[in-house]
Parts: sequence; C-alpha cells; structure tokens
Amino acid sequence: MNRILLRGGRLLDPAGERDGPGDVLIENGRIAAVDADIRADDAEVIDAAGRWVAPGFVDLHTHLREPGHEYKEDIASGGRAAVAGGFTAVACMANTNPVNDDPSVTDYILDRGHQDSPARVYPIAAATRGLRGEIMTEMDALVRAGAVAFSDDGATIMDSGVMRRVLEYSRLAGVPIVVHAEDRTLVGNGVVNEGAVSTRIGLPGNPAIAEAVMVARDLMLAELTGAHLHVAHVSTAGAVDLIRAARGRGVHVTAEVTPHHLVLTDEATAGYDTNTKVAPPLRSLADRNACRAALCEGTLDAIATDHAPHAEHEKDVEFTAAPPGLIGFETAFAVVLDLVRSGELEPLELVRRLSTEPARILGQLGGSLAVDAPADVVVLDPAAEWTYDPAKGYSKSRNSPWSGKTLTGRVIATFVAGRLVYSEERGVLFP
Ligand code: NCD
Repeated sequence: MNRILLRGGRLLDPAGERDGPGDVLIENGRIAAVDADIRADDAEVIDAAGRWVAPGFVDLHTHLREPGHEYKEDIASGGRAAVAGGFTAVACMANTNPVNDDPSVTDYILDRGHQDSPARVYPIAAATRGLRGEIMTEMDALVRAGAVAFSDDGATIMDSGVMRRVLEYSRLAGVPIVVHAEDRTLVGNGVVNEGAVSTRIGLPGNPAIAEAVMVARDLMLAELTGAHLHVAHVSTAGAVDLIRAARGRGVHVTAEVTPHHLVLTDEATAGYDTNTKVAPPLRSLADRNACRAALCEGTLDAIATDHAPHAEHEKDVEFTAAPPGLIGFETAFAVVLDLVRSGELEPLELVRRLSTEPARILGQLGGSLAVDAPADVVVLDPAAEWTYDPAKGYSKSRNSPWSGKTLTGRVIATFVAGRLVYSEERGVLFP
C-alpha cells in the first residue's frame, strides 16, 4: 500500500477554509486524513515543517502546442514543466495544428495527456472551426470527447452574431466560453500597450480600450444568453470595472489574470526584449494595480499562466516580428507570491486563486484537501531563493522575462493522484 505522510506543514485548504499547522496522509491516490498529529507507522514521512501544503495548482489557460508545434512544446514537456511549477492539472488551448476543433484532436490530446504528462490535461476545444470566427464547432460531440470549455484563444470572434450563437450552444453543452477579448480593429498592428512608453520607444500601440470594448460586448451577450462567459487574461482597469458591474447584475461571468499582468508593466517592454511581448500586452501601472486589486477582491477569480512557448529563433527577431507569448509554469508561484509579500493577499487566498477557483470554473475536481479528494497536492517553500534559468527548466522553450532573475518562493514537491511526480531534489519523476 502506498502511504505518504506530509508532516508538520502549514495547511492551506481554501475549500475547507483551513489555514494552520497539521499533517496530511495520502493513501492509494487519495487524501486519507488531515489532522493535527497523524500517526501512520508504515507511511513514508515527508517533513513539511516551515512549508506550505496546499491543493495542487490548476492552470486554466496554457498552450501545450501538441499536435503540430512540438518544436515549441509538447504534452510531455509541458506536463513536466507544469508539475515543476506546482500545477497538477492544466487546461490547454485549441490553437494547435490541426486546431482542436474536432473530437479526434480532443481524443488525441487526452490520450497523450494520460500517457505522457504527469499533470492532468484538460483540452479546451475551439469555439469555431479553424479558429476563424465563422462557423461553430460541434460542441456536443467535443464535450462528449472530453473538452472542458470552448475558446478561440489567440483570436477574438469579431462577428457578434457568431459569438451569440457560440454562447447559446455552450450553455446547452454546460461548459464555459473562454474569450480572448481584444477588438482586432482597435488593436491594429499594435505590439505594446498604447501610451507614453509606446510613444517613447517608437513601437505601435495596442490600446486598453481594445480589451474593454470586447469585454463589454461579450458581457452583454452573456447576459442575453445566460451562458457562462470566462474572460481570459484580463489586463485593463476598464475590463475589470465592466466585469464587476456585470457580476453585480447577475451575469454568469468569471475571469482570470496572468502572473505577468499582475507584476509587470509596459515599462518592461522598453528594452525591446521580445520575451515581454505578449497578447494582451503588458499594461500601464494603473491597469496593473487595478488587476491586483480586482484579484484580491475576487472580481478576477483565478490566476492562469497563459504559458505560451515559442522557439528561440522565433523570438530572436525584431520586436514587431516576434510572436506574442511567454512561458509561465515554472515561475508562476514565485512571481505571484509578490501579492503576499506586499500584504495584499493572504496565503490561503492566493492558493484559492491558483487552485480552488480555477478547478471550480472548469467544473473539475481539485482545489481541495478534503478527506477522500484525489491527492493532488503541492508542498511549497515561500522563503526559498533561487535563480531562474529556463535552459534548466522542463519547457522546450525559453521565452521568459524572468530569465536570469532571482526569485523567492519555490515548489518543493508535487503529487498527482498521490504519486510524487516532482521533487526539488530529484526533479520530475515521470514516467
Ligand atoms: C498566445 C500563443 O502564443 O498561443 N500568445 C499570447 O501572447 N497569449 C496566443 C495569443 O493569445 O495571441
């Protein structure tokens, strides 16, 4: 029998509203007991003193690039990077090649996920065929195949009539629509946030209003249809205000924010580092602070990495030509700990936004240390300092703005279904 005792950690279980010292006993893939002082003589004991023990993180928004772009990432490498970052489950976007707009692709991703990835993999299927924003996908068949949500992430569905129907059918299918909300006509050829920085550095600006306009439309259509709208990677104060007001009216809306939009601003783009080029762009300080406040108050429900690997030869070009996106799994925890250090967020609330809330939004298990729950668990050291070198990480790509930076906060161990799949000392233990 496989029994593991995590002894003497600070237990952070948002689902059970628990924050305090205790032990966790893992048995046969499940959480068998959570208590002040568990005796389990035959169990393997892991000393968690001085550490946080929390439900594994759940990433609502990732790009695993398989099928089709395996030179950037695949499900095996992405899954390894995920557990090294404390993520026990990741939802992956449909902008693969072929696009995940057909149950055969959803099947393939699930198969590869089961075989190749230490983290659980949840496919998000395309909302429209080929992500072209024109013809809806067969939502029922995709949900039956295992899709957990629909999204044309990377592309906004500009046709409001199509968007309305997509929302209507997603409601029938019982899953959320995840929107990349940027009005393409307002984005134009913008590559950084439109403002003083874009003017100073002479790069075309992508205005904050491009996001707010599209969020406003999508919230109105969600209100009309009663569908569950999930707004991806919110980056502006305008979008935050719209989401808050809509939620107040009873609109079924949830929203996520990325670590990079919580911590960085458009000043980071001033050195023309293409690893700071991302969609939506890094915004002004006022926008960033509005996103932080909105995450703390709960208007933004979850943190999602938008892990978006790109190869070195693709990023090693002039800023305007580089594809947007940055990798995020292995740095996420250390980066968002900034909100705890600043006093804005309690550790329990941070874990809620990394684990419990994203699991709830996806309608999947996870985010809980309750007895009998699957033992998806992470052990964290909030004080450990380390220097991030993407070349030593598990992703195939290295496009991170934190490359070479010293970070505080480290993942010590990750368990998926009771199995140790990552330890700081031994690395990823899979298969
Ligand atoms: C995404 C990617 O690389 O797939 N990039 C990103 O900057 N978020 C797609 C996209 O949203 O443009």
